[in-house]
Amino acid sequence: MYVDINQSKAYADSRPSYTDELFKTIVDYCKKTNPNLNLAVDVGCGPGMSTIGFAKYFKKVIGVDVSETQIACAPEDIPNCEFKVGYSDKLPFIHPGSVDLFCCGEAFHWMPQEETFAEADRILRPGGTIAIFGYELPTSDIPEVQAIVHKFFMKLVPFNPKEAAQTSHGYKFLQMPYPDSIRNTKMQLLTKYTIQNYVDLIRSTWAARACREARPEQDILGDLAEELTEALEKFGSGKDFTLTWNLFLIMAHKPRN
Ligand SMILES: C[S@@+](CC[C@H](N)C(=O)[O-])C[C@H]1O[C@@H](n2cnc3c(N)ncnc32)[C@H](O)[C@@H]1O
Repeated sequence: MYVDINQSKAYADSRPSYTDELFKTIVDYCKKTNPNLNLAVDVGCGPGMSTIGFAKYFKKVIGVDVSETQIACAPEDIPNCEFKVGYSDKLPFIHPGSVDLFCCGEAFHWMPQEETFAEADRILRPGGTIAIFGYELPTSDIPEVQAIVHKFFMKLVPFNPKEAAQTSHGYKFLQMPYPDSIRNTKMQLLTKYTIQNYVDLIRSTWAARACREARPEQDILGDLAEELTEALEKFGSGKDFTLTWNLFLIMAHKPRN
């Protein structure tokens, strides 16, 4: 999916960063059934925003992504974080039963889910945790900006593969592989955007690329920038605006026997 370094750079610069509240919630859940925080594996890690927050809690964190350009944009200066190109369902470089946390942020809908869960089960230690998280469409306090965000989302919906719909439903239908699963929908991310930054975020999506390929005559990103500029001039309090993303997090422990 990500084969263009500029698309990966746009992704790294514009997607929301996760909060420590999210990482700590996951770590606290891990500790309920397993005192070890030796190794966390984050599949579909992208440029690492879902990976790096675990570095202060785990001895080692490995981020894995199928895209070389996404991995090329991951940070290189966190000593206990390693990033690798690879598939979520094929992790031969990880020993069976060696992982305390297997996680996936905003990526599980792109993966072969049954096979990825089987691989998680192979590498997780008994009592280890699976955590799957993501965010829904963002909202704005400025009604005009909200209307534009929604309008352009609806314009791009037809270009999304059907897998992407799962994020809009917060993975409501996801069956976790272990029985004690819990769902947390209480957390949010707040991200400040300039117009250019938000346009870059939309540029980094699958749907925007598919739309550009299918309708090269349309300038959806140009239209988005124009409408946002107009709305912020009329109704905003400056050139920046803040978006709120509702997070969803689903976790389960691998049984001890
Ligand atoms: C929307 S990004 C999420 C990145 C990051 N985890 C985050 O939370 O922002 C989805 C990532 O999943 C990766 N991906 C998709 N299918 C994959 C697979 N089967 N194995 C590993 N990575 C995969 C894509 O290359 C992409 O970087």
